[in-house]
Amino acid sequence: MNLNSRPDPKAVNSGLAPVTYGTGDRPPRGDYAAARSDFTCEQQWDQYTSEDHELYRRLYERQLAQLPGLACEEFIGAVRHLGDPRQIPRFDALSEVLRKTTRWEIVAVPGLIPEEAFFALLAQRRFPVTGWLRKPEEFDYVVEPDVFHDLFGHVPLLFDPGFADYMQAYGAGGLKASRLQSCQYLARLYWYTVEFGLIATPAGLRAYGAGILSSAGELRYSVASPVPQRLGFDLKRIMRTRYKIDSYQASYFVIDSFQQLIEATAPDFAPYYEALSGVPELAADDSLATDQRY
Ligand code: PHE
Ligand code: FE
Repeated sequence: MNLNSRPDPKAVNSGLAPVTYGTGDRPPRGDYAAARSDFTCEQQWDQYTSEDHELYRRLYERQLAQLPGLACEEFIGAVRHLGDPRQIPRFDALSEVLRKTTRWEIVAVPGLIPEEAFFALLAQRRFPVTGWLRKPEEFDYVVEPDVFHDLFGHVPLLFDPGFADYMQAYGAGGLKASRLQSCQYLARLYWYTVEFGLIATPAGLRAYGAGILSSAGELRYSVASPVPQRLGFDLKRIMRTRYKIDSYQASYFVIDSFQQLIEATAPDFAPYYEALSGVPELAADDSLATDQRY
């Protein structure tokens, strides 16, 4: 493989990838030497140990038990597609079902990948899933996304036709944002929707963001705690708002429907980026008079 295409381990984890769980000096955990030039690799399912499968089962069980009343119905209805909860799914088998449903597939990656590579995969309806699983001592919290976060958090909603299209559009939009050097704005949109989004339903607020849905503590916190603010979805406001990478979020943004998300993000973002470049950023916990509060 082409050496130049290998990620610089520092770059991968130092803020170049907006879709990450943080920045820092730690080298990423996966084996990047085994990755192809598009950063995909083999899952190497046979290398998971029985302890890995057992840890996955415990993570899955704990999360599944919390979903009723906290996760959106689209997510709850689709979790079963992940298959046997007692073992880490085989990506190939899962992709086969996913392709038939929404024309998406999942591909293995060593871990966090540079944003351009990430956008390119999404634009091709290929969702990158980290191969490695956290260690038992990381049962409650893992700094970088692992196979549990990526699969349990993200894959169920890829079975939803509307959300599946949003993810592809996001990938294409990411490639464009990178040409326009505006990735920081788009990264915030990803963060406050795909990772930490809430949705208002007739039964009450529910989570659809993968970062919340795969988190032991933040799922209930995001939906029910009186501490954070919950604000109506506002695209340009979100694009100005910084986020927390090392604690629960200070603010969550609430959509009315996936349709609202799709319509609000359909226009060309180039003029938005242009306009935003002169506007001050907002801190994660700032509030504005124009915010719609839940
Ligand atoms: N409409 C956006 C653009 O022109 C692309 C996009 C769609 C971005 C959906 C995010 C989500 O850049
Ligand atoms: Fe994620």
